[in-house]
Amino acid sequence: MPALVVIGAQWGDEGKGRVVDLLSAKADLVVRYQGGANAGHTVIVGGEKFILHLIPSGVIHPNATCLIGNGVVLDPKTLFDEIDDLIARGLDVPNRLLISERAHLTLPYHLIMDKAREAGTRSIGTTQRGIGPTYTDKIARLGVRVADVLDEELLRGRVAQNLADKAPVLNLVPEADRPKLDEILATFRVYAERLKPYVADVSAVLNEALRSGKNVLFEGAQGTGLDIDFGTYPYVTSSNASAGGACTGSGIGPTKIDRVIGISKAYLTRVGLGPFPSKMEPEAEALARQRGNEYGATTGRPRDCGWFDLPLMKHSAEINGLDGVVITKLDVLDAFAEIKVCVAYQCGDTRYDRLPASLSQLAKCEPVFETMPGWEADTSAARTLADLPGNARRYLERLNALTGVPLSAVSVGPSREEIILLDETLPAYAF
Ligand code: IMP
Repeated sequence: MPALVVIGAQWGDEGKGRVVDLLSAKADLVVRYQGGANAGHTVIVGGEKFILHLIPSGVIHPNATCLIGNGVVLDPKTLFDEIDDLIARGLDVPNRLLISERAHLTLPYHLIMDKAREAGTRSIGTTQRGIGPTYTDKIARLGVRVADVLDEELLRGRVAQNLADKAPVLNLVPEADRPKLDEILATFRVYAERLKPYVADVSAVLNEALRSGKNVLFEGAQGTGLDIDFGTYPYVTSSNASAGGACTGSGIGPTKIDRVIGISKAYLTRVGLGPFPSKMEPEAEALARQRGNEYGATTGRPRDCGWFDLPLMKHSAEINGLDGVVITKLDVLDAFAEIKVCVAYQCGDTRYDRLPASLSQLAKCEPVFETMPGWEADTSAARTLADLPGNARRYLERLNALTGVPLSAVSVGPSREEIILLDETLPAYAF
């Protein structure tokens, strides 16, 4: 390290949780800096499965202190459910978690606003966790931050204003289900007491840690294709899922970041609506979904599956300034007789080798595929490149040559040890 950012290079669900878990073995601090309970980071340790929505995946290692930065939106119910679950499973969360006083909170009306919008004609397939409406209020300067719930008078005024502003939408739900000011205040009084011991000036903690040479790992949520600025807008999430978000979402300067690692599946998935140029044909998609267990960790929705998408990856490499890439789930491709790579999008006479901004243009594009032979053999026991079948090695070499980004590691299964480490300078591992 000392300051390493791990981001999703595709449309989320790349397997960031398991990579962060590995890298956390030597981390002093692990930081979440954007997104909210829409994320679902799955980590499997010794056969035990953890799905983390808000708390950094580094919590599973006993050494790291976990920080939730100002750029995250927090649903207190999900947060405390997650904390209680982790404590019940033996993790010392109270002594290892700090939450930014500047992080914005998801209130009950945000969930209603998200669901109402999704029920209408402008649905984008959100996780319905209130993410968009919480960030909307943040930008509109109507939001409620962690520091604000500790001040009940301020909270009363802010919530009352929000309930009045949002009444036209909130009144669409039955009277009994509408959020009431006094009920919200009573619930948040309890949350405020529970939040107090965790609240900190996360930016100050981080800067001090970096000054004293501590190892800091930044854990991105979602992926670059879902970034509010650089994703397939409007089919995106409402935060900067790309590496730049690590600075604004935690309170450190860009000069403090040493390295950015992107995580990418050996193929591609997407959940929710939005363009997907390299989508697989139905038979291949069914096989990838079944082998990769491609169902959303937060919503359980089946994920759409596609082939590795080079224009998306090249876009991602530049937006994030990737120093390396970890390819995950190579083993899912073990059963395929042939494997495709989408090397460009063709739109009439125009050939795109980066993700275009215009979705109407993208909708007219046809994927340009390169086809490679599969390896049809089990890769899960491989721990070095030499252990892989020749065609699997050639596939990885091709991805490396096409993207121009060095391969840092390749995962061949969900457990901690099922990984091929290629970049020995990555911080050491738990095995
Ligand atoms: P929202 O973040 O719930 O507003 O959803 C916006 C879009 O981002 C939808 O397409 C979601 O499916 C997608 N999304 C949000 N979080 C994740 C994630 O953690 N993994 C994959 N897709 C996500």
